[in-house]
Amino acid sequence: MDGRDLVRSVKAVGSNGAAQGWRTVRAAWRRRRADASGLVPRGAERARVPGPVLDVEPGPGGGLVRFTRSELRITVAVNGAVFWGWDGAAPEPSYALAGRSPKPDPRAVLEPDKDGGWRVVAERVTVVVSRNGAVEVRTPGGVTLRRDLPPRWWEPVGGGAARWMQRSEVAADARFFGLGGRASGPRLRDGTYRLWNTDPGLSFGPGDDPLYITMPVQMVVADAATHLVFHDSTWDGTVTLREGEEGAGSGHDRAGTSELRMDGGPLRCWVMVGTPARVLRTWASLTGAAALPPTWALGHHHARWGFGSEQEVRRIVAGYQERGLPLDAVHLDIDHFDAHQVFTVDRERFPKLPMLAKELRRDGIRLVSIVDPAVKAERGNAVYDSGSAVDAFVRDSARRPVHGVVWPGESVYPDFTRARVRRWWGELYEERLAQGFAGFWHDMNEPVSFAAFGENTLPRSARHDLEGRGGDHREAHNVYALCMAQAGYEGLRELTPEERPFTFSRSGWAGMQRYGGTWSGDVATGWPGLRASLSLVVGLGLCGVPYSGPDVGGFEGSPSPELYLRWFQLGAYLPLFRTHASLRAGRREPWEFGDQILEHARVALVERQRLLPYFVTLAHLAHRTGAPYVRPVWWGAPEDRALRDCDDAFLLGDCLLVAPVLDPGTDRRAVQLPRGHWYDTVTEECYEGPAQVLLDAPLSRIPVLARAGAVIPVRGADGGLQLEVWAPAPGGTGGGLVVPDAGDGWDEPEIERYVTRWEGKRVIVERDGEDGASALSYPVRVRGLGVL
Ligand code: NOJ
Repeated sequence: MDGRDLVRSVKAVGSNGAAQGWRTVRAAWRRRRADASGLVPRGAERARVPGPVLDVEPGPGGGLVRFTRSELRITVAVNGAVFWGWDGAAPEPSYALAGRSPKPDPRAVLEPDKDGGWRVVAERVTVVVSRNGAVEVRTPGGVTLRRDLPPRWWEPVGGGAARWMQRSEVAADARFFGLGGRASGPRLRDGTYRLWNTDPGLSFGPGDDPLYITMPVQMVVADAATHLVFHDSTWDGTVTLREGEEGAGSGHDRAGTSELRMDGGPLRCWVMVGTPARVLRTWASLTGAAALPPTWALGHHHARWGFGSEQEVRRIVAGYQERGLPLDAVHLDIDHFDAHQVFTVDRERFPKLPMLAKELRRDGIRLVSIVDPAVKAERGNAVYDSGSAVDAFVRDSARRPVHGVVWPGESVYPDFTRARVRRWWGELYEERLAQGFAGFWHDMNEPVSFAAFGENTLPRSARHDLEGRGGDHREAHNVYALCMAQAGYEGLRELTPEERPFTFSRSGWAGMQRYGGTWSGDVATGWPGLRASLSLVVGLGLCGVPYSGPDVGGFEGSPSPELYLRWFQLGAYLPLFRTHASLRAGRREPWEFGDQILEHARVALVERQRLLPYFVTLAHLAHRTGAPYVRPVWWGAPEDRALRDCDDAFLLGDCLLVAPVLDPGTDRRAVQLPRGHWYDTVTEECYEGPAQVLLDAPLSRIPVLARAGAVIPVRGADGGLQLEVWAPAPGGTGGGLVVPDAGDGWDEPEIERYVTRWEGKRVIVERDGEDGASALSYPVRVRGLGVL
């Protein structure tokens, strides 16, 4: 038991009593025992590499290359992504893919390369296979983006899953991003990152890894091109990254390296090449469109573990209303459950929940419910009984239900990797809908079992259905939350077919965006936590998960007024804008930090409300194109190396650059600008990039810049849509996209395109359609005039 484990068990004891503490100790021993008897010891292993090439068999989109000790299948798909799999690995089955894998591109052919190797030439990428099984990804111009050395397997002599290792080299100038939600990014510096979804137990900061969402998805940005590589194996593993270095003077370059080690699963991967936007579009076409949140979910949410009663919820809502502060959703945590059991209500403290929900709804405020997967293992508990009747719960290798310890005490876990169980679970949301809830917050789904020592999840030997294939927790762990998200989302689609579901989940895996978003989990209250929370949002966006945001103010303790405000100001520009904190934490309402903070928080809230049409547009664009709302500053200029290293600012869509304050005592900060002209949206002063500029960042606001020529949909004073246009650079042009809000159903309104240009001393704005430019249907406000 290390220090962290001790604190963790004390935390479990502290929150749920001494009996709970002993239960966690027992559960940990049980877990160990189960693994000792349920998993075959690895024993001696034999190492293997592919060996020399033997022959090839061309096929649609590529073909098969046979080596003496393995074979490699390469297929270029019609969406431009390249798949390759060793040892017979095919793209399916896969939890990441949305439906079937895309069709092969018949134009891509396997042909001989020099030195006995082979290559597949496609429109956007060439894949070259050496005679020993090294695989190179090259741009059409022939520049190498990635070179995978021949893989290596270690196979247990007595049978069982092979471990494998894939070492790759990238350009000396390349930078790594992604791998899910990482606290120390978004640029992933040298180090080892684990691929095992983990509740860190305590609130986390930049040094903590892994966290709740890990995925074997790397985005690599280099001068020659950007590429995304996805190793489609759900098993535990590590990625060790080392950035390269360019040789000074006549010195040699040192390539960057990535070494992926997996405990099992197929050795197969997808690679996509192009600009960041193209790469994420291809990724979304493979893994599915991001769920479109309902419009209210793009407003302000207030959560709290420990509202404790309906009266307290009313008091908080009244606090917002009396002060004229916008509020769109209130989240109820586990304290509104009966004895912490999911899909129940504590009727003493929440006697008239449906009525509360109705009243709030009248004021435009939705109720969101937490949903935990663990089910109290007790006869008479309706969820347990109905689950047992359909054999829903995870069992061990001796077919006994696996028990863990979570908030309700001794619990069992639905096996979400079985379609029948997902259906059963999805139907349970009917009870939540009857209580008046409009959204769902999936928690503790790594999944967690409190641990007095060792890992705080299920035993690795626990059995899972894995869609009928059968397997154990080593394979199912990382997709447990993804499958829970699927169960909830699909259940809600059945129950309320006319409304888009709103779900977000603490844990997940590649493809989780199909079912909703996430939040940053229990981020530590402190300036490093603030920084970490931005890293997660940017990094997840680059893995295809565009909707997320932190617990504003941090999860535990009490932020200083200044820290709270800076977090609030950042949150106002992130997709999920939510204040939330732990049971034991101090208050998080904007009026709890003094009048000055309240007034500055009000400005941020009002600005968020004004930008709502822009957020709606960004949500639609994320859904249709895979481009996240929050993008790294290098998004449009990945060749700008100074931008690749910039971790403290981001682009919100194409139009805005947000530079949050991440350090105490700041009233000015440096901002790295991409190419082009940028206006400070408050002073309207204009700056020209690429450059580093120093901008005012008084306590009242964080610097937000608008791109010259931007057309931004905003909410006007009358509540209607208005276009805010920032004057183009002298002689230049500009434009922007608008997707009007079509409510919370399934309508997908047309994307409207606007263009802007100078005509003499006037800025002209027009709608750009198939029949040429047309008149505008929205009022226009032009800003930035007279400063250029
Ligand atoms: C852990 C979650 O991360 C947190 O947001 C929540 O408040 C607690 N569980 C209690 O449900």
